[in-house]
Amino acid sequence: MKAELYDDAYRHHRQRPPEELRGELTRGAKRATLWVRESKDRFLPDIPWERLRILECGGGMGGLALELARMGAHTTMVDFAPGAVTIARDLGVDAHVLDVTLPDARVAGPFDVIVDSHLLHCLPTIPARASYFQFLRDHLAPGGIVVGETMVHRKKMYVPLGWRLDDDGILWQKFADWVPVRRISDSLVLEEEFRAAGFRIAYFYYYANYGIAPSAEFWDIPVEVLPASVRFVLSRAD
Ligand SMILES: C[S@@+](CC[C@H](N)C(=O)[O-])C[C@H]1O[C@@H](n2cnc3c(N)ncnc32)[C@H](O)[C@@H]1O
Repeated sequence: MKAELYDDAYRHHRQRPPEELRGELTRGAKRATLWVRESKDRFLPDIPWERLRILECGGGMGGLALELARMGAHTTMVDFAPGAVTIARDLGVDAHVLDVTLPDARVAGPFDVIVDSHLLHCLPTIPARASYFQFLRDHLAPGGIVVGETMVHRKKMYVPLGWRLDDDGILWQKFADWVPVRRISDSLVLEEEFRAAGFRIAYFYYYANYGIAPSAEFWDIPVEVLPASVRFVLSRAD
């Protein structure tokens, strides 16, 4: 899905009072903040927060990055939607416009923790995902981890009018044309994809009771028919 489509979704937030937005974003980032903290404490207990280098990929308006920076970590965020990056910067986040699927994508690193909060499922094509996995591997410090949460398939999923789910788990949305917007893999397929991309899986947990809405239009839909979620922690296999 193109950066402009995400940018459209972020546009109206740019007119909002910064304090109101900051409050909403940090409240919204609470679950993810806890998840990153738990993962860091479990897998990197010896690095103090003040020395921890974190990169968040697809960080949107920066709520999570802001919280992680507040906890003391050196936090960088990237997103390919310029509107989101502007908002994040206005909030004080070290944010940069970057498409993580471009083969030459680089950001000054390396990082002890790379966070993916709902970005991976926004990359529907295999080449884009392969390129992103390489980006993650290239930016991990020795011993570093990728901490993520992503949507995965469940047997019964609600697909409303204007959306289509194909046999490869790609969710298409009708704009002027049909656009592939999400990849909702089976969790076993995702696990295999991580291994094939050169990662060691340190943690992989399927949450049937936590459904991720593909977009705001899905927020009122019962959780049992939304895509389920997986939380994962990866390190380089080599
Ligand atoms: C579903 S949103 C998640 C935003 C935020 N992490 C959260 O959990 O609220 C996915 C984000 O990834 C960004 N994104 C999608 N594809 C990207 C790419 N190829 N490179 C960088 N950012 C991308 C979008 O602009 C969007 O901000």
